[in-house]
Amino acid sequence: MGKHFFYLLLSSIAATATTALAGPENLSIFDPVSPAATPIRDLFMLVFGVIGIIFVVTEGALIWSIIRYRAKGDETTEPPQIYGSNPIELAWTVIPIIIVFTLFLVTTRTIYSLDMQEAPEGALKVKATGHQWWWEFEYEDLGITTAGELHVPKGVPVFVELRSADVNHSFWVPRLAGKIDCIPNRENHLWFQADEIGTWYGQCAEFCGTQHAKMLIRVISENEDDFDSWVASQKLPASETPTKLHGKEVFLSLACVNCHNVQGVSMVGGFGPDLTHLMSRKTIASGAAKNTAENLRAWLQNPDSIKEGALMPNMMLDDAQLDALVEYLQTLK
Ligand code: CUA
Repeated sequence: MGKHFFYLLLSSIAATATTALAGPENLSIFDPVSPAATPIRDLFMLVFGVIGIIFVVTEGALIWSIIRYRAKGDETTEPPQIYGSNPIELAWTVIPIIIVFTLFLVTTRTIYSLDMQEAPEGALKVKATGHQWWWEFEYEDLGITTAGELHVPKGVPVFVELRSADVNHSFWVPRLAGKIDCIPNRENHLWFQADEIGTWYGQCAEFCGTQHAKMLIRVISENEDDFDSWVASQKLPASETPTKLHGKEVFLSLACVNCHNVQGVSMVGGFGPDLTHLMSRKTIASGAAKNTAENLRAWLQNPDSIKEGALMPNMMLDDAQLDALVEYLQTLK
């Protein structure tokens, strides 16, 4: 009975905390929306419940002893000292061993139940590459590359291949799955399945340099139809630029093309995010700022103003170049 009561108590505390935090950017592990995240929450609750009971019992015994056995009146003699009780020593050795062993088994079972090295039948396969300091998402089977925002269909398992282009990063979207590191020259795997429509927030969970904190992830789960139309639009090359715009020439004349690809325009980059459908993303700089004309301009003028230490250089552009570039980038729908 005690355990169930504790589990209930903890669940309600967690639920309250979660509701309080349930703003648009809820990153609570207590609020899973994926079968890959629920067992982690359940395991946490079990471990927390068990250690909670241990805490209450031991602290309770301590407080009770302090009150019950404190010196009364002018007592100056020590109480009788007892040494070497086999039953007591056996109890405090065996009980912790059983508890630790049980928690070990349950944890191992959870880890193995979530571990998946091969994509399951019908899964959407995505390659996620951690860069300093942004995420690249490649849907090889669909021929799509995007950055920062990962679109997935609701209710479909997503199998993510995790890589790194430079240092160690860690992919973590708490409401969808556990966290797994992205390690150079190694391929790790993770899966999740968003069972609701929505935007699920995540972030790099391994310190990877100055802008580690602004290496955000947005997973957008949508209806199959919405996802299909997103895929169709992402597969298109960059849209035609109105002839009166000369921003495209400015873009091609600058070092932008050494890092950024635009399908059908320039494909020599790849170090920075693909910009072909830049305007289909809600954010820039891996979620560090909203994708608005003002922010784009501020970013081009001085990337450090949005992300200090960003690897995109300040190109010392003049106002005319900035205006032309922003105008051009906004055609990349
Ligand atoms: Cu990438 Cu921290």
